Amino acid sequence: MNCRICRAKTQPIISFGRMPQANGFLAKRNDPEHFFTLTIVFCPQCFMVQLAETLEAKIMFGDDYHFISSTSTVMLKHFKKIATDIWQMISKKKQPFVIELGSNDGIMLKHLAKRKVLHLGVEPAANVANLARKNGVNVLESFFSLQTAEKIRKHHGPADVICGSNVFCHIENLSSVFAGIRLLLKNDGVAFFEDPYLLDIIRKTSFDQMYDEHVYYFSGLAVQNLAKQHGLYLTDMRHQPVHGGSMRYYLSNNPLSPVSKRVRYWLSQERKLQLHHLRGFSHFQQKVDKISFNLKVNLLRLKKRGYQIVGYGATSKSTTILNYAKIGPHLLRYICDTTPTKIGTFSPGTHIPIKAHTVFVKDNPPYTLLLAWNHQKEIFAKEARYRKRGGKFITYFPKITVQ
Ligand code: TYD
Repeated sequence: MNCRICRAKTQPIISFGRMPQANGFLAKRNDPEHFFTLTIVFCPQCFMVQLAETLEAKIMFGDDYHFISSTSTVMLKHFKKIATDIWQMISKKKQPFVIELGSNDGIMLKHLAKRKVLHLGVEPAANVANLARKNGVNVLESFFSLQTAEKIRKHHGPADVICGSNVFCHIENLSSVFAGIRLLLKNDGVAFFEDPYLLDIIRKTSFDQMYDEHVYYFSGLAVQNLAKQHGLYLTDMRHQPVHGGSMRYYLSNNPLSPVSKRVRYWLSQERKLQLHHLRGFSHFQQKVDKISFNLKVNLLRLKKRGYQIVGYGATSKSTTILNYAKIGPHLLRYICDTTPTKIGTFSPGTHIPIKAHTVFVKDNPPYTLLLAWNHQKEIFAKEARYRKRGGKFITYFPKITVQ
């Protein structure tokens, strides 16, 4: 296939075969499911790592989107900090205007709404947009594109800040998004976005970040090329500890904007790992296969010895590892999760029942597969009693551990 960004011919990195929609939790075990071929490719010209094939955006982010941002206290704090950072950028400006793409349930914008900052969330999923409105957030229920940007500019004027967290990597037509930002951003405005960082994914072999909703796996090298195409400039890169390692990219439409020395640092780290060449990904498939195989073998061993094993956190990510390693209800009795809309459903492809956290507390299973590994610190703190009483968590990146 050709690169979505620069049209050059791409090269395959890894293929996981047929995979279901990662967030496609089923109301009934036998409900119909959407499948696609999950293959990751690399563009040798602009260095963008991306999906070869995607599911339709309407299927993934329609009316009933299961991903609710406000489910982790760490993420609540993280988004509050983003709002504080934005406040520091704009507090001296006259009538500043902030736009967030993929505002979800208003986890970030509600803090700016409280401060009476002029703002707009752009969010296509109706259920989460309604939650945001309940939080006092203004929402335009729409996908973001150049056309949406034109509409917003006409009705509200240009923006001082445009941002998005864990949303840019979801948008297939990124060129339209970048063109929209170029149009909508004031000359002295700042755009920034953060997503799981390719360098972390490759270093940890955290391949479960790869699923239908993540069309792109960004590096600074690729973002710089993409930005240039649209008259935007990469001015800063700030590493974030969330989602197993994320990168926040800052963009300006002013060629004279100062560039932080962090950009030079991270780009050199990426070159060291050869993320600008297919060579950088040459052992990835092998490492993925090793982790998947070892995980399955370990779970089978525990099962054979009569132990009950459950999963913790019905993440989108877990869809990839559970389906690729073929871990179903025969190995995991259920997955516990705190998201009300996921409880009572079944995991995509593998059909493992999703149960409330209270079930986990009551059962006190001897072994728990930590599928929400990106929240390990928070979950270990929450489950200190479980671990003290002998309960063990199994983690798998970069290698399998029982702790
Ligand atoms: P998330 O980290 O957003 O990962 P993904 O993007 O792969 O879906 O999802 C975390 C999931 O874990 C979410 O469904 C909520 C659940 N969760 C719990 O059940 N308990 C917890 O203590 C935490 C932190 C998360």
